[in-house]
Amino acid sequence: MPPYQFDPARFDVAAFLRDHWQKKPLLIRNPWQAWENPLEADELAGLACEEDVEARLISRAREAWKMEHGPIPETRFSKLDKDTWTLLVQAVDHQVPQVAALVAPFRFVPNWRIDDVMVSYASDGGGVGPHFDNYDVFLIQGLGRRRWRIGQHCDDKTELLPHDDLRLLAHFEPTDEWVLEPGDMLYVPPGFAHDGVAVGDECMTYSIGFRAPARSELVAHWCDRVLETLGDDDRYTDPDLQAQPNPGEISDEAITRLQQMVAETLLNRPAFARWFGEYTSTPKYPAVDWRPEEEIYAEGMRSALESGAVLLRNPAARFAFLREAEGDTVLFVNGRTIECPGGLAQLAERLCAEDRLEFDTADALSDDACALLAELVSEGSLAFEDED
Ligand code: SIN
Ligand code: CO
Repeated sequence: MPPYQFDPARFDVAAFLRDHWQKKPLLIRNPWQAWENPLEADELAGLACEEDVEARLISRAREAWKMEHGPIPETRFSKLDKDTWTLLVQAVDHQVPQVAALVAPFRFVPNWRIDDVMVSYASDGGGVGPHFDNYDVFLIQGLGRRRWRIGQHCDDKTELLPHDDLRLLAHFEPTDEWVLEPGDMLYVPPGFAHDGVAVGDECMTYSIGFRAPARSELVAHWCDRVLETLGDDDRYTDPDLQAQPNPGEISDEAITRLQQMVAETLLNRPAFARWFGEYTSTPKYPAVDWRPEEEIYAEGMRSALESGAVLLRNPAARFAFLREAEGDTVLFVNGRTIECPGGLAQLAERLCAEDRLEFDTADALSDDACALLAELVSEGSLAFEDED
């Protein structure tokens, strides 16, 4: 399958980022050089039956919404005949390389902001109901047709219908409506109400989902990390204490000093940056196991690359890097920090930029570089491309 690429005449990334990203919805009619649906419905149903894959089945009979969590038993699909239903499978890009290839054209957004690809498959009239998400999303119509309606901007105070599993809007005020055909794409910024209903059977939609950490999540997790480094003997001191007229007053100077104790610890920027690299590269789902049968070492890696081996990045692995003030590069892979000084920096950057790595002159790779690649293959973050 050829790589997915946008036709710049139909989707102008710079204009999109300027006018729409995080601002307002946009319908983009088939922006692809050549659209091809990357996944069969049967394959999706197969994934929904698996233990390690997050799947939901939403059905509706007489206006009553029902949600079932995966794994979905295979026999369940044959009982769906008369219902209106939709099957949703999370992180399909981690499982299916052709779906992972669909993410590549969206890399104008940094890796750490990209979440995963959810795939839905619905019967005629199927959908998840009017709702809003807290994240940006590109909804790509893969197969069949879907009517999308976009509505008002929502937030935490927006009224929802009472339901244990679904966050459906109590009121939906549509402002725009389009029927999407295969290859068409709808961008929805966080908070905008939307509702997609399948028009005819065999409606498959790919959601390229993004991530944006909540302030509460950042504070909570960063504080947890900071706490690990603090001992009980690190305390408030006041060797310059002056007698004060009213012993009941908590003085301004005391508050300044107390707040400084908190601020200087929490505002340690280099430590925060390293923590964030680890935090954001920590996988959300159980790893898709790409580990080889036998561990590989630096020498084995060198000879493999010298004979033309190509490396692939595991789509389930999260890669990111940081350039530190001192000029050092730190690579993060699946929540792990890997120091990449000097010549390793260039390799770290390539690993984050390319999902397929070909090395022309393997001799130019240092022993450290071969060791790093061997380690990443041994842990399953990279793998050798099959030659056939
Ligand atoms: C769907 O694919 O049916 C739902 C996607 C969404 O609304 O976020
Ligand atoms: Co949504």
